[in-house]
Amino acid sequence: MLSKALQNGFNDQIQKEFYSSYLYLAMAAHFETVNLPGFASWMRKQADEERSHGMRLWQHVYDRGGKVELKAIEQPPTAFGRPLEVIQQVLEHERKVTASINALYALALKEGDVAAQIHLQWFVSEQVEEEKNASELVEQLKMSGDQAFGTLFMDKHVLGQRK
Ligand SMILES: [Fe+2]
Ligand SMILES: [Fe+2]
Repeated sequence: MLSKALQNGFNDQIQKEFYSSYLYLAMAAHFETVNLPGFASWMRKQADEERSHGMRLWQHVYDRGGKVELKAIEQPPTAFGRPLEVIQQVLEHERKVTASINALYALALKEGDVAAQIHLQWFVSEQVEEEKNASELVEQLKMSGDQAFGTLFMDKHVLGQRK
């Protein structure tokens, strides 16, 4: 059985994952408008992935006899900067998500909840991956000098290729 404190922590994290999904959808919408379909497709896939993270936490709450309480999701921004700035925003956002996963893990550790720790370990590894992917894209966009040709190349051959 999940403790009340951990259940609250899981519910907060579910909200964060769904907000991430919403934020990346907003970014996808932005990239559609500026005619960068590869960036838009990458963001849509990322949005789907975030939703699946939320559902993975949801499942653990129910596997442990807890209760999911969905919280309000705030409105994401409607205006975004250049592609490099948007991807930098992704990286900053993922760093915040990492901090909140780590805090949730620390709570599970403090409470001696081994099952929750094991479940959250997957998220710890996933955050390493998320930050690596985003910072790799940031560095590659910087390499291209944040110029149109490089951005179009990245759109078609890098972001647009994401499976
Ligand atoms: Fe996530
Ligand atoms: Fe991921």
